[in-house]
Amino acid sequence: MTKLSVNINKIATIRNARGGNVPNIQQIAQDCERFGADGITVHPRPDERHIRYRDVYDLRPLITTEFNIEGYPSRSFIDLVLAVKPHQVTLVPDPPEALTSNAGWDTVRNADFLREVVAEFQKAGIRVSIFVDTDIENIKNAAKTGTDRIELYTEPYATDFPKDKALAVAPFAAAARAANEVGLQINAGHDLSLENLKYFHENVPYLAEVSIGHALISDALYFGLEKTIHLYKEELK
Ligand code: PXP
Repeated sequence: MTKLSVNINKIATIRNARGGNVPNIQQIAQDCERFGADGITVHPRPDERHIRYRDVYDLRPLITTEFNIEGYPSRSFIDLVLAVKPHQVTLVPDPPEALTSNAGWDTVRNADFLREVVAEFQKAGIRVSIFVDTDIENIKNAAKTGTDRIELYTEPYATDFPKDKALAVAPFAAAARAANEVGLQINAGHDLSLENLKYFHENVPYLAEVSIGHALISDALYFGLEKTIHLYKEELK
């Protein structure tokens, strides 16, 4: 069964707009779990424009499913993750000012750096996933960093899905097969939605987990959070 990890960054964005504690992200994280989410994802950025470092500490004891922290492995990020000890850390290559993650790692150019960071997290018992696109050589090189998983960057799939879904999903299915062959587990995320998730899940093998934020939180405005989480879980059956 592919797991659904709900990315709650958007909730923190709304909270931060007014400076108080509404909506309460701790309550919402727990409610997501109660409504069926298999995990909670947060992406603390250095400017703390949505999830703050403090939030990550506060959430840790409350999460009873899987806690996934994603981010660029700066020294401060690494120290945060080592202190909080989530189940999984997802490494993304985006610079601090990026609006959102917009590319996967170049696992050749960053091979030494990634190998060191992956080892540091694994020594602390934290599963590591690294964010990559569908380039097969790049994925084979990802395995050489020692990472446990990759997360496939699905924005290109979401963009191309309305034009030709078979064409859009083909590189992801091939990438997943290649990753499985070199012993990597597979996550996926970015711009997955109620429109495109089912087809992705049906056509990409070995999918351990999807992490979804923007579309899911937007859908919750119409359907409510509980119903929305059920709808996403249905797509993964
Ligand atoms: N995976 C990674 C690495 C991300 O940076 C994000 C966005 O924070 C997501 C998944 C979730 O993307 P979306 O918000 O489009 O569902």
